[in-house]
Amino acid sequence: MSLKLDPKNYTQWHSPIETVVDFFKGKLTELGWGKSDKNQVIMDVGCGPGGTTKDIILPFFPKVEKIIALDVMPDMINIARDKNAHPQIEYLVADVTEWSTVEQWEAKITKVISIHCFHWVKNQKEGFKNIYRLLMPGGEAAFFFVLEATFFDASEKFQNCSKWCQYLKGRDNRIPDSHKYKYDATYYKNLAEEIGFEVLHCRKEEKIDVYPDDVTFKNFFLSLCVLAAYIPQEFKEDFKDDILQEVIERNGRTDTGLPLHRGQMLELVVRKKLL
Ligand SMILES: C[S@@+](CC[C@H](N)C(=O)[O-])C[C@H]1O[C@@H](n2cnc3c(N)ncnc32)[C@H](O)[C@@H]1O
Repeated sequence: MSLKLDPKNYTQWHSPIETVVDFFKGKLTELGWGKSDKNQVIMDVGCGPGGTTKDIILPFFPKVEKIIALDVMPDMINIARDKNAHPQIEYLVADVTEWSTVEQWEAKITKVISIHCFHWVKNQKEGFKNIYRLLMPGGEAAFFFVLEATFFDASEKFQNCSKWCQYLKGRDNRIPDSHKYKYDATYYKNLAEEIGFEVLHCRKEEKIDVYPDDVTFKNFFLSLCVLAAYIPQEFKEDFKDDILQEVIERNGRTDTGLPLHRGQMLELVVRKKLL
């Protein structure tokens, strides 16, 4: 079943997520990624509307030759081409778990980056295997994605509560197995090694993202709620209010009253061994 995110609402919040910026400035810089990398062909997997691609990835690799940014949702790619076009970025519709859609780059990619994408990927093993095939020997891949999130708990509650279950019961909620079965970093380390990667960094850690105000928070999480597609238009505002309430009940707010979200994130950096 196709992924039902809302590209327009997702794009409304432009500022880069601080925990993602920290991943680039911290761990990836420490591992030698970035400025000195010349003639690289970088692939951004699950680029969405392209904000992270153009505002974070591109400046991080000033000597990059080309960035291939792909996403499974054509609407995301349309927005990316429209709002975040750049001569060095090629935006394309492709599914990282479908080899035929990416095979043209077999062993041609020097670095793969995938931010906030893999929690939506149902067959994660297939996605990792394809990325392994896409990398040149010695190439590296960095992943940053959600393992567990209070937002997923809230989504599950909506499917079972009397107010919303008439629309949501039995729908594919896209809650990842990592959330259901509480996968830890070792699960992913083992999976990556099984595929043939050398694991350079693998850590599960709670990350807190703070949002500038309640309206931004509501629109952003509505855009990420795959269940929202089943809510009739006239009840969407009410549904958004309930998302805020449910998530804030679990997460609290900052001292100054700003809404925040807590999630267990995975940072994973791997290398395809030289032949
Ligand atoms: C939450 S967005 C993140 C976008 C962007 N990386 C960012 O940091 O803002 C996740 C994106 O991953 C894409 N995605 C999910 N599964 C995918 C797959 N199998 N192949 C390619 N893209 C996928 C979704 O369509 C969505 O646009």
